[in-house]
Amino acid sequence: MSASRADHAAARSPGAAASMRRLLVLIEDAVVSALPTVAPSGAAGFGVDRLAESMRYSLCTPGKRIRPLLLLAAAETVGAQAARLSRFAAGLEMIHAYSLIHDDLPAMDDDDLRRGFPTNHVIYGEGLAILAGDGLLSEAFVLMLEPVTDAAIQARVVHEIARASGREGMVGGQAADLMGEGRAPDPSLLRAIHARKTGALLRVSVQAGAMLGGSTPAQLAALCDFGERFGLAFQIADDIKDEVAPPQVTGKSAGGDQVAGKVTYPSLFGIDRSRELLLAELEAALQALRSLEGDTTLLEAIALEAVAPALANGVAED
Ligand code: IPE
Ligand code: IPE
Ligand code: MG
Ligand code: MG
Ligand code: MG
Repeated sequence: MSASRADHAAARSPGAAASMRRLLVLIEDAVVSALPTVAPSGAAGFGVDRLAESMRYSLCTPGKRIRPLLLLAAAETVGAQAARLSRFAAGLEMIHAYSLIHDDLPAMDDDDLRRGFPTNHVIYGEGLAILAGDGLLSEAFVLMLEPVTDAAIQARVVHEIARASGREGMVGGQAADLMGEGRAPDPSLLRAIHARKTGALLRVSVQAGAMLGGSTPAQLAALCDFGERFGLAFQIADDIKDEVAPPQVTGKSAGGDQVAGKVTYPSLFGIDRSRELLLAELEAALQALRSLEGDTTLLEAIALEAVAPALANGVAED
């Protein structure tokens, strides 16, 4: 998966494609080594082996790794070395993996396929799936609190990530998504749901990379703007893919949003208008990057690559 993504990017910018490939290798190393493989023995270890297997199952199945990629790319954009941030970045992927396990549960989206594999609860049962999500969220903070930079800056970054993941961000958005099922669609509510359930974690990924990388206030503002607009574009693309992309692309059963009665961009605007709105958010995201001095081709390539499967003849395929 990572090779073909990098190949797509290569058509636009060979340098960005090579950087993306290099960062994805760093991320994969950090992700697979993020969870300890040795469980306590005897009574203290009872149940832990199976829990750890369940956590590793969802964390290590191949995903796009876009949140850690954004973090490392933002750090490099402001002139920092990505390698020292790779375990921190893996913490973001752990929060994301937890959110996917819970998102797929029967009480939520009730999906049995994720990244082309059976969902966590299908294999491990609902109880262990809930706990695997809880475990990943908790251990994400263990990784993100390993010292990587000035302690006060790092504390602020972790604080921002906790807020973006919780009630004000992803979890709040997920609650709104659930409460919105079967409701009459409303454009401003839909935008707010998407900005929180998906946009918040993507925006904070960019923000974290910028802050940990030592950004100036002006760089931070531009990168947060990029992250916010791209975060919304990403979920519009996800909604479009749910309707138009085959399971080989999404790794999910097709049409799940319609079955669940979700309020999505296609359900409200149709596919063509949703693509226009996606392109408008993407353009706003790229515009935010243009105010930055220096090389932004890596972040541009990541953004274009991420939304390309949702666009039949859009900018990403030109
Ligand atoms: C899927 O996220 C859930 C959303 C927040 C839209 P991704 O599209 O990043 O999923 P993976 O990690 O690549 O599988
Ligand atoms: C998920 O949104 C957002 C999360 C916080 C996980 P979706 O429910 O649309 O994500 P998919 O389509 O299942 O990946
Ligand atoms: Mg959902
Ligand atoms: Mg879902
Ligand atoms: Mg979706």
